Amino acid sequence: MRNFTEMSEKYRITIEEGLTESLRLIGESPLRESIGYVFSMGGKRVRPLLTIFAAEAVGNLNQDVINGAIAIEILHNFTLVHDDIMDNADTRRGKLTVHVTSGVNTAILVGDQMMALAYDCLEKCSGAHLRDALRIFNEGVKEVCDGQALDESLSKSADSSMPSYIDMISKKTGALLMAAGKLGAVLGGGSETEVNLLGNFGMNIGIAFQILDDMLDLEGDAERFGKPRGLDIVEKKKNYLYLKALESLDESRIGVVNAAYRKASINDDDVAGVRDIYRSGGIVEAAQREVSEYTAKALGNLETFKESDGKDALIGLAKSLVQRKF
Ligand code: IPE
Ligand code: IPE
Ligand code: MG
Ligand code: MG
Ligand code: MG
Repeated sequence: MRNFTEMSEKYRITIEEGLTESLRLIGESPLRESIGYVFSMGGKRVRPLLTIFAAEAVGNLNQDVINGAIAIEILHNFTLVHDDIMDNADTRRGKLTVHVTSGVNTAILVGDQMMALAYDCLEKCSGAHLRDALRIFNEGVKEVCDGQALDESLSKSADSSMPSYIDMISKKTGALLMAAGKLGAVLGGGSETEVNLLGNFGMNIGIAFQILDDMLDLEGDAERFGKPRGLDIVEKKKNYLYLKALESLDESRIGVVNAAYRKASINDDDVAGVRDIYRSGGIVEAAQREVSEYTAKALGNLETFKESDGKDALIGLAKSLVQRKF
């Protein structure tokens, strides 16, 4: 784990500098301050770290990799700004969300401009791999949009199947981590096999990441997690806990959960009632087990890589995400 801790501390500084530096590309803009606000809110910077470690694992960390890493983090932050509008979330990273501080219309534009800013950063990549990088990036963008659309439609439809959920989170969350891994591998000069393996690694930790996010939504410490607690239930999301409950609990417990989901507006007592059912029904443990299984799959994707600091850091990243509390 030493390589992971040391390398993430080191590269987090590079990432923060890169994000701040990218603001200069915006020039004069009424949106600039809000974008700076989003960058200053914090965040774990998981995706750019993945890009950097993936490049290290194939042996070539260069400035293009850093440009790609910054681009992917800006893209991620853009998706969060729009996601918080869609999910009616007032806080993120312990701070007020942009649509709360500046209004929905401004938040939409902030997100749009961040997307362009992400392309500005990607465009700084030199020659040979730019086309591949652009293709990977765009694939990620389209999949996240599809995933977010599926999140919306699933919560409103009669479909409550686990495969539909896994498909949805593979797109809304897995795709961006997959793009982060592939981008690092491509910009670091990796082979096609390495690019695919590191993409799969990203996808698997991405799926684990989202299942854990669903669990922390209810079980996390609100202050550390930095997002409103129980919001998935309030917003009637078909998240992992809900679908696992439908799959494995008895009729009467499912009845209580569904009664809450049918209410026009869900209050704190309803959330507490659903949480108690998830806890007593072993749903929270089931989520943890699933997270561990996808993480094991991700680690399997690294098996054929030769020993390196980059590989160690990727292993450390995957393991640290399983234990995360925020
Ligand atoms: C939040 O992502 C969105 C999900 C995919 C669950 P992160 O948990 O990586 O958010 P930050 O960037 O660290 O705040
Ligand atoms: C992931 O889903 C969001 C994106 C892919 C942008 P969530 O809606 O669960 O993410 P959080 O919990 O708000 O961070
Ligand atoms: Mg959300
Ligand atoms: Mg959402
Ligand atoms: Mg969530």
